Amino acid sequence: MGYTPWYKHAVFYELYLKGFYDSNGDGIGDVRGLIEKLDYLQELGIDCIWLPPIYPSPERDDGYDVADYYTIAPKYGTMQDFQELLKEVHKRDMKLIIDLVLNHTSDQHPWFQEAKKGPTSPYFHYYVWSKTPEKYKEARIIFLDTETSNWAYCEENGYYYWHRFYSHQPDLNYDNPEVRREMKKVLLYWLDMGVDGFRVDAVPYLFEREGTNCENLPETHEYLKELRAMVEKHYPEAILLAEANQWPQDLLPYFGNGDEFHMAFNFPLMPRLFMALKTRDVSPIVKIMEGLPEIPVQCQWCNFLRNHDELTLEMVTPEEREYMWKMYAPEKRMRLNLGIRRRLAPLLDNDQRKIRLLHSVLFTLPGTPILYYGDEIGMGDNIALPDRNGVRTPMQWNTSRNAGFSVAPPERLYAPVIEKGDFSYQKVNVEIASHDPSSLFSWIKGWIALRKRNPVFGMGKIEFFSGKDPALLWYRVYDGKEEVLVFAFFGDMEKEIVLDMRQWQGKTLIDIEGKKPTFSLNKETVVWKFSPYEYKVFLVK
Ligand code: NOJ
Ligand code: CA
Repeated sequence: MGYTPWYKHAVFYELYLKGFYDSNGDGIGDVRGLIEKLDYLQELGIDCIWLPPIYPSPERDDGYDVADYYTIAPKYGTMQDFQELLKEVHKRDMKLIIDLVLNHTSDQHPWFQEAKKGPTSPYFHYYVWSKTPEKYKEARIIFLDTETSNWAYCEENGYYYWHRFYSHQPDLNYDNPEVRREMKKVLLYWLDMGVDGFRVDAVPYLFEREGTNCENLPETHEYLKELRAMVEKHYPEAILLAEANQWPQDLLPYFGNGDEFHMAFNFPLMPRLFMALKTRDVSPIVKIMEGLPEIPVQCQWCNFLRNHDELTLEMVTPEEREYMWKMYAPEKRMRLNLGIRRRLAPLLDNDQRKIRLLHSVLFTLPGTPILYYGDEIGMGDNIALPDRNGVRTPMQWNTSRNAGFSVAPPERLYAPVIEKGDFSYQKVNVEIASHDPSSLFSWIKGWIALRKRNPVFGMGKIEFFSGKDPALLWYRVYDGKEEVLVFAFFGDMEKEIVLDMRQWQGKTLIDIEGKKPTFSLNKETVVWKFSPYEYKVFLVK
């Protein structure tokens, strides 16, 4: 057996620095606050933290509008604090990756401020300009709710500039070798600082070419491979994780031949998990998973249920999207662009059975799971806040003022804590959850420990079986040494299901959680009763 890269067995955790813990009482979470809470993440079993952008920024897209790639925003602390954070993370045998926004900068970035002066500016060609907004017509608009074109007019120089996201986020021009060099420098700067890699934002859009949809172009892959080669050369342990919200055939090339990204988010899978809960038909999950062929051996899927964005519905058909909106976003304001701007627990009616069912799949599918901060305690959202801010509210630590997140006066918090209803911090918080052995937090912590004891998760292959019931997702995960059988029942009514178990006749099934008795398979079939949203996971011996 060769060497197993660290990220194959890891559990990742995404957290908004501003929302995690405020150490100095200004109402904004910060680096020192995160340092104080590292023990919490370690206790939960987290191996790698992903921080969305922490750079100085006008914050018109929550930091994805970068104004300076070489430091962190002062409100988060100093670079000394950041170095201290890295030291503390590594001391605990954990890793930390940061967001790398390659595709665009903020319009406040000095490069763009210079570029606006016109073609004589040395920075003009850092961006993509045109005299007319007619080019690249085939590129879709991503932020559909706010943008009507991918071109915006610059009063100052009389040109239009290209932007795939908000108009205040001009796209960098990757045809310019200087831009390609500049961004390589950014990577090296942070790797030299000690980060363990990058979640790379919006990777499909680096280059534009007439007559294409300007996504996933060969030139883009070529550049990404150069980045990988550079990372590999200087920091062979560091990782690149791709944010490419694409269909399988376009997503797979981001792994290259093991020479591009180490990891990529499994965007096609995610919406189908939610869909199956409503349709009680798991076939789309099986179909999409079977359509994700094997990836190079050192590569890894990053599986997730939710993140800091809307639950995106880009990777489903228009009919499926309508269905998902109807089911999960009955109120118009719950929708955003092509998605649903809600957190996990409210999406799943705060029903522990559904929440655990989806996690049981997340934790057992081949790949590396990533959790979104607060979902481990079942936090809610605040849809009264605009854009995606409703899923980025302060972490709920305890029942004290501001949920224990900050000592600032409540009106100074960057966003209000959730204080009403079933998701109020009085009810949903870390302190309560971590003292309750039956809480979601304790259950997730237990599952993370189980994954670590069973390396088959993360490394194994998967095989699906068609059961007698459309609501039963049934698969095995195996690696030649270990085998695990997973039954995830997406039905909402109790059901007896006859299962053909010939393949395992003579074997013993051991409940991985140690809750159910051990079971010897001496018959060809078993009749199992499944309660609504029940999962059963067995080690096969
Ligand atoms: C994807 C990020 O996840 C999202 O939050 C951001 O708005 C866009 N990329 C633009 O950077
Ligand atoms: Ca602070």
